[in-house]
Amino acid sequence: MSKYILAKIKNKKIKVGIIGLGYVGLPLAIRFLNKKIDVLGIDADKNKINLIKKGISYIENKKFKNDIHFKNFRKNVTLNYSILKHVDVIIVCLPTPLSSSNKPDMSIIKNCIIKIRKHLKENQIFILESTVYPGATYEIFKLLNKFKKFKLGKNFYLVFSPERENPGDKMFSYKSTPKVVSGYSEECSKIAFNIYKLIAKKVFIAKSIIVAEMSKLLENTYRSVNIGLVNEFKIISDKLGINVWDIIEAAKTKNFGFRPFNPGPGVGGHCIPIDPIYLSWLMKKKNYNSKIIEISSKLNASMPNWVCKKIFYYIKKNKIKSKNIVMVGLAYKKNTSDTRESPSIEIVKKLLSKKYHLEFYDTHVKNFDLKNKYFKKKSISMNSIKKYKNQGIVIIGTDHKNVDYKNIFNNSKLIFDTRGVYRSYKSRKIVSF
Ligand SMILES: NC(=O)c1ccc[n+]([C@@H]2O[C@H](COP(=O)([O-])OP(=O)(O)OC[C@H]3O[C@@H](n4cnc5c(N)ncnc54)[C@H](O)[C@@H]3O)[C@@H](O)[C@H]2O)c1
Repeated sequence: MSKYILAKIKNKKIKVGIIGLGYVGLPLAIRFLNKKIDVLGIDADKNKINLIKKGISYIENKKFKNDIHFKNFRKNVTLNYSILKHVDVIIVCLPTPLSSSNKPDMSIIKNCIIKIRKHLKENQIFILESTVYPGATYEIFKLLNKFKKFKLGKNFYLVFSPERENPGDKMFSYKSTPKVVSGYSEECSKIAFNIYKLIAKKVFIAKSIIVAEMSKLLENTYRSVNIGLVNEFKIISDKLGINVWDIIEAAKTKNFGFRPFNPGPGVGGHCIPIDPIYLSWLMKKKNYNSKIIEISSKLNASMPNWVCKKIFYYIKKNKIKSKNIVMVGLAYKKNTSDTRESPSIEIVKKLLSKKYHLEFYDTHVKNFDLKNKYFKKKSISMNSIKKYKNQGIVIIGTDHKNVDYKNIFNNSKLIFDTRGVYRSYKSRKIVSF
């Protein structure tokens, strides 16, 4: 059977069904469509479906191409799982958040599996792209196979392929970034390799699904630990009265054994604050405390609080009376509109709790509602920054590239810079931490 499937893949005759058309799923759909492969999409969010149906790639606010594959995709985006009976490949790109008690919350995937399992058929390829704890892909398959009794590698194919999508990063592409895949059996891996070879320049087959699951957690834990380290250096530098950016500038001249990471007001998004906890949770169940992983997650999570303490201390010491603040950048990192777990929003909430009046300027986030009468839910214009020339406070929470920082500097009285955008400026009105 796999010969027939492989031929179908090589001839681009496969139909791909993507569940979850968010930051991962929609760009993935577009990659297949660009290669003239049929894609069907499922999402639970009616607004997203409507935007896609209108031909808008809502993540980057761009229009889809006008070719037949994109047109068909627009028609075939739905809330209805039954379309899965028409596809050869099912790729799951659903959220894997944390629960309120800081544990992996796999309920979105599990509920979805219960809904889709009655629509599955023999010889389909099931691929999980969501980030999960090691062992989860196979657990999901067991749930999926409760009634069907598919035989893996014989009449059903199971694959895990971690996503490396980096929203807002123009350097990231499937041309330059290899795709990791791994299947339950050699047959599954071979099929996965050929599917992703259609869209990626380089595909790497990991030794097993659990190795592929762990590789994703290693990549994101590596980031979390290194960001935690550099944030600790930021705190230490502050205590010593040195600028952390000057230290990094010097250290990064070493051309081996050192990779620079940027300090900031904390971490956000759907990966760095979450993925390491998936692993430390599993280790706790196995009676092991993953020390470095936990300590860096805690340190990163405490950064918005540290920033606020510094702001309040400065305000008190310098007897600043104004209650007006503009947060420049609400997104969790530069060049994206993603506000999930954003440290800027944490900081805004803390300032609101102290009765400050907050507004924001973000070139990627146009609206954000905190349902608080002291918070303006529409991004102000660059022109309105002028009102901070003689009074009020500007906070740089995100370092988007397309912001006129010089204009902000010229039109403000006091700037708290948490991202080092003014690191080359020498001015008493800039307070960096
Ligand atoms: N965002 C990233 O940069 C990134 C990078 C690598 C890996 N990941 C991982 O990929 C996965 C998806 O992340 P994301 O950032 O794309 O999330 P997202 O929230 O942007 O997208 C998920 C999509 O799933 C939809 N959805 C939710 N429940 C659904 C359901 N029951 N049925 C159908 N659709 C449903 C949502 O409406 C949303 O459009 C996560 O596991 C994440 O950790 C994300």
